[in-house]
Amino acid sequence: MDIAELNRRIAELKERRGAAILAHNYQRPEIQLIADYIGDSLDLARYSAKVDADLILLCGVNFMAETAALLNPDKTVLIPDPRARCPMAAQLPASAVREARKKHPQAAVVLYVNTLAEAKAEADIACTSANAPQVVDGLDEEKILFGPDRNLAWFTQRRTDKTIVPIPENGHCYVHKMFTPADIALLKEKYPDGEVIVHPECDPEVQQLATHICSTSQMLLRARASPAKRFIIGTEVGMLERLRRENPDKEFMPALNSAICEQMKKHTLQKVYLALRDRKNEVHVPPKLADRARGAIERMLELSGRATRD
Ligand code: 13P
Ligand code: SF4
Repeated sequence: MDIAELNRRIAELKERRGAAILAHNYQRPEIQLIADYIGDSLDLARYSAKVDADLILLCGVNFMAETAALLNPDKTVLIPDPRARCPMAAQLPASAVREARKKHPQAAVVLYVNTLAEAKAEADIACTSANAPQVVDGLDEEKILFGPDRNLAWFTQRRTDKTIVPIPENGHCYVHKMFTPADIALLKEKYPDGEVIVHPECDPEVQQLATHICSTSQMLLRARASPAKRFIIGTEVGMLERLRRENPDKEFMPALNSAICEQMKKHTLQKVYLALRDRKNEVHVPPKLADRARGAIERMLELSGRATRD
């Protein structure tokens, strides 16, 4: 089936099923183009908390679909390919959070949204790359157990006066680990007028060479507002599709062409069509677990919504 025909059938099925398609910024361009909503993890959580649809098709990795399911216990949440599982989210099992809490009973537990529901159920609050320092600052505790991404923990530590203890020791994203300071330095030498924007999942040495360190949707806001005409982007390459589409007068260069998240790319237009047609790949979170995990997301939305309005 060609793209035009797939698009036509998807639009028809969306209408018939009362479905909304939500896509992360790293999705393939043809998926971004049929989505009702595109965003970063925080945007997707916020949007799925208020979306008026009977069925949500989440084109992103497992923890994003789980978050949508947690926030919509009465709706059906589907994922085009259930193998789209973020490896970082698997790096912090619930048992590791419980152990860390035993060692640091006075500390609050802040977990990156890139975690499984079983870990979120053990957390005091969730955060994303768009609001981690805000979330940490909004808590009364001085010591914060923070995981699983060690680089986001480092980024957050630099922006708050709290004591951040990373859990586990070495949580990371294999895609953002690919960037090296030499990649950035080489591009900066070639394009001295290029503004460097990187994701906080990058190593500290890479973050230190950037002008802006932010979530994927915040990259869009920065690129739009910046007087610069050229940008060097340190995140998954799918992000460049949207940056270019929405800023046709500006030039975007990937800091590394091979920075591809295989899990995000598991979704295709064909799989979107099949999931909608057959109502398959439903995302289930057992109700008891969901009730415990939902609180961490809701507290984050409450706190970060408040901070945005302030
Ligand atoms: P954002 O929330 O910034 O889009 O990040 C999600 C992610 O998985 C980055 O690798
Ligand atoms: Fe997970 Fe990294 Fe892929 Fe983001 S880019 S979904 S953190 S593996």
